[in-house]
Amino acid sequence: MTGDLFDMLESPRDEQVGPGTCLLHGFVRNSAAEILAALPALLEQAPLRRMMTPGGQPMSVEMSQCGSLGWVSDRDGYRYTRRDPLTGNGWPALPPFWRELAGQAAAAAGYASFVPDACLINRYAVGSRMGLHQDRDERDFTAPIVSVSLGLTAIFQLGGAGRSDAVQRLRLVHGDVLVWGGVDRLRFHGVQAIAPGRHELTGEFRYNLTFRKAG
Ligand code: SIN
Ligand code: FE2
Repeated sequence: MTGDLFDMLESPRDEQVGPGTCLLHGFVRNSAAEILAALPALLEQAPLRRMMTPGGQPMSVEMSQCGSLGWVSDRDGYRYTRRDPLTGNGWPALPPFWRELAGQAAAAAGYASFVPDACLINRYAVGSRMGLHQDRDERDFTAPIVSVSLGLTAIFQLGGAGRSDAVQRLRLVHGDVLVWGGVDRLRFHGVQAIAPGRHELTGEFRYNLTFRKAG
């Protein structure tokens, strides 16, 4: 039995993993090829890059952005900007069907009327990871975070309100969407080092799209 068939037969569709956190198994699996097809044009306008942490270390994950606001990290800290510091141009527009899918995922998780204005594009090579952090650079914490996983599998760490709280490990496979908001909006989270593998649509990479209402 192939992994995909196994997933289809065995995965529960929606999994409430916290009071405000829902894992929508395979929510975008059927749209994944179309989502990925929009990437090259976006990344041509705003290339992937490894941003610096405020402490001066290059991040392990390559990032780009689309939407009216883009998330930036450098020596001056974390913030949202209207322009890409690399090119001086505005960030590429959020593809309308990406925005719609993000809204549909939020609604399926219980968050009506989510309209993101920022999408962080993360590309993880094998071995890339993201340390535990909170998403707290957005103006309004009443909107949820919608996080789409494509390509190689990730082990996502879902912590608590404090950095040293115990973490729950979630396996995020191609097509999964994790939504967190409400009382869970500021939970710490991170991604363990990506294990070697190859995916038919993304090769030796995992892509993560994180939709937010930043402004
Ligand atoms: C993030 O927290 O920005 C990324 C999460 C992920 O890659 O799943
Ligand atoms: Fe995050």
